Amino acid sequence: MSVQQLSIQRLRNLDHVDVNFGSGINLLYGANASGKTSVLEAIHMLSLGRSFRSLKLASLITQNKTDCLLFAKLQNQQGVPVALGMNRRLDGDHSIRLNGESLTSTAELASLLPVQLIDPSSASLIEGGPSLRRQYLDWGVYHHNAAFFGLWKQAQRLLKQRNSALKCGTMSASVRASFDPGLVQVAEQINCLREAYLKLLEPMFFELLAGLVDLPDLKLGYYCGWTANRPYAEILDETLERDLHLGYTQRGPQRADVKLTLSGVNAAERLSRGHQKLVVVALRLAQGKLLSEVQGRNCVFLVDDLAAELDWAHRREICRQLAKLNTQVFVTSVGPNELTDCWPKGIQVNMFHVKHGQVSPS
Ligand SMILES: Nc1ncnc2c1ncn2[C@@H]1O[C@H](COP(=O)(O)OP(=O)(O)O)[C@@H](O)[C@H]1O
Ligand SMILES: [Mg+2]
Repeated sequence: MSVQQLSIQRLRNLDHVDVNFGSGINLLYGANASGKTSVLEAIHMLSLGRSFRSLKLASLITQNKTDCLLFAKLQNQQGVPVALGMNRRLDGDHSIRLNGESLTSTAELASLLPVQLIDPSSASLIEGGPSLRRQYLDWGVYHHNAAFFGLWKQAQRLLKQRNSALKCGTMSASVRASFDPGLVQVAEQINCLREAYLKLLEPMFFELLAGLVDLPDLKLGYYCGWTANRPYAEILDETLERDLHLGYTQRGPQRADVKLTLSGVNAAERLSRGHQKLVVVALRLAQGKLLSEVQGRNCVFLVDDLAAELDWAHRREICRQLAKLNTQVFVTSVGPNELTDCWPKGIQVNMFHVKHGQVSPS
C-alpha cells in the first residue's frame, strides 16, 4: 500500500495541505518548525489512529481549532485505489471512513496501511520499558498471523475479568475454573506465535545490523511473560496467593518482552546512544523486510530527521536498505542535500519543500 495523495487540515501548523507523493522515496526538507514531522504524524494517524509524538489530541489539533481532518488516496499493491478519511474532534468525537463506509475500529487501519517509524527518539525502544518492545513484537505478529489479533483481544478480556475477581481478595475454585483454563490456552497460543515470528525475524535483523555496526556479542532474546519452558497453568497456581494480594495477574502474555543483551547484560546499559539507534533501525528495517518477503506486503517507512546523530556512512547504508525494500518511504531533513549521494544510483527521489506549514514539490 502507498499514499498517493494526502490532504491534511488543521493538524499542528498544517492548516491546509494537499499533496501528491511518489510511491518510492519521498524527501521532505525544510527549516526547523516548518511542519515536516507533522506530515509524518498525519500518515501515522491514518495508519494507527494516533500520533507518535503525543497521545493528547489537544496538542495535535491546530491551536484554537476544534478538529483535524485527514484524507488519503491510497493504492494497494495491485494498483487498486482506496480512499481513507479521518476526522478527530477535540470533544472526543471521531470518524473514520474507508471508501465511503464508516469504520468502527482503528485496528482495521493498521492492517490496511502498515507503517514503520524511525525517528530521533528511536533509542527508547531499547532504553524504555517492556511495553514498547512488546508493541514492536506484536506489530510484527499481528501482520504475520491473522489469528493473533483475536487471541490478543481474548487475552485482554480474560485478564481484565481475572484482575477484577482478584481485587476481591479471594477467588473460589469455580471462579478460577471460569478464567484460568481459557487464559492458559490463549496465552500458550500467543506465546507460540510470538516465538515463531521472532525466529523468522532474527536472521534478517542480524543481517541488516551487520551492515550498520559490528556488535558480535549482541543477542536477541525473548521473555514470554512467565518462567521459560514451564506450563503457564503451573505459574498461575503458584502465583495465585501473590496475585490476590496485589489484585492483578503478575505473570502472563501481558508481560512479554524482547530482550536485547550484550554478553548477558541489558543492551541499554552497554550500548552508546548512537549504537542503540542503529540497533533500532535494524529492528525496524527487519520487520519491513520480513513483511515484504514473507507476506508479500509492503509497509510505509516514516523516517524523521535521518541525518540527526548519524554520520554519512550510516545514512548511506540506511538509505540503501530503505531503497532495497522497494516500498514507499517518507524521509525528512532540514536541507535538501543532507542525503544526496546516500541513495543508490538511479533511484528517483521525489523532493518536497516544507515551508511555514505548506508542502510543495520541488
Ligand atoms: N497544536 C498546534 N497548533 C499550532 N501549531 C502547532 C501545534 N503544535 C505544534 N505546532 C507548531 O507546528 C510547527 C511544526 O512543527 P514540526 O512538524 O515539529 O516541524 P519540523 O518537523 O519541520 O521541525 C512548530 O512551529 C510547532 O510549534
Ligand atoms: Mg521535526
